[in-house]
Amino acid sequence: MSSKTVRYLSGIQPSGMIHLGNYFGAIREHIALQEAGEAFYFIANYHALTTQREPAQLRAHSYDVALTYLACGLDPQRACIFRQSDVPEVTELTWLLMTVTPMGLLQRAVSYKDKVERGVAADAGLFTYPVLMAADILIYRSDFVPVGQDQVQHIEITRDIAATFNHTFGDVFKLPEAKLGRAPYVPGVDGAKMSKSYGNGIELFAEGNALRKVVMGIKTDSTPVDQPKDPDKDTVFALYSLVATPQERDALAARYRAGGMGYGEAKSLLHEKLDATLAPLRQRRAEWAAQPEKVEAILQAGAARARAEARQTLDAARKACGVA
Ligand code: ADP
Ligand code: TRP
Repeated sequence: MSSKTVRYLSGIQPSGMIHLGNYFGAIREHIALQEAGEAFYFIANYHALTTQREPAQLRAHSYDVALTYLACGLDPQRACIFRQSDVPEVTELTWLLMTVTPMGLLQRAVSYKDKVERGVAADAGLFTYPVLMAADILIYRSDFVPVGQDQVQHIEITRDIAATFNHTFGDVFKLPEAKLGRAPYVPGVDGAKMSKSYGNGIELFAEGNALRKVVMGIKTDSTPVDQPKDPDKDTVFALYSLVATPQERDALAARYRAGGMGYGEAKSLLHEKLDATLAPLRQRRAEWAAQPEKVEAILQAGAARARAEARQTLDAARKACGVA
């Protein structure tokens, strides 16, 4: 492929169930972008180690992320999918970048402060998480990093680190840009950002009663049925907007504003739409789950392709700083 082709790179941590925020905020965009340029997507298992201490679970979740991408439409002939740890070059680059990363830059990272406040152990891995993420992005010479809003600061940190390295040792790294999609902030059932770690997620592959129960449990305000409601302040409406056509969304917004409709009815409409949208994904997931050898082969082929790219960048960085 020509060097002018735009390259997209993103990663998802295998740290728990994949939820609607991951799908609408990131995965759906990743799949769409496989048509727009070269796409590299990886399962960030080294990053997940900062919070996961159960080896069997980490393995299972990693495999689950691969199944999720395939179920959502990743075409392995176009996009490259692989495990972060199958490209060990990335950890070597992390060290080179670490030596030009100011402590203050990492101390300002909100995701570190946020995780420590929520009780995650403040170890060196968690603190230097953004440097590994910078290595992920820079090693593939990525142009755009499609992510949700919460990751934008990490891309800014990546640019800072890359610029410092380039300034110190010469022009090795391309400066990447964050690319927000159509739904950069998906709320969870409690109205806060949907997140694996907040326990407020709606699982992408939930079905039947489990799906219905979680949708019916979405927190709403206490406006009585007959009163008008503001759709823009409601989580049920925000989630409905992700799965409805613009006409359906406008129709529901009008019903909110008119009064006379309770949140229970809106939840039923959301459940119905969501279930219909997710059913084909569940079906494809089951098909892939029946072919574990094929999934593993796709991950191995992805890693081989990614590794060849990574090696080139790492060699250039090693040479530039004088260790090779
Ligand atoms: P989580 O916050 O649940 O641990 P990750 O950090 O693994 O999710 O995020 C994987 C991708 O999904 C990232 O690109 C992230 O920005 C995106 N993402 C996660 N939660 C949301 C959300 N609620 N809305 C939009 N995008 C999200
Ligand atoms: N930190 C990202 C998250 O929690 C995952 C990630 C790791 C990533 N490395 C990356 C995302 C590189 C984009 C690019 O979602």
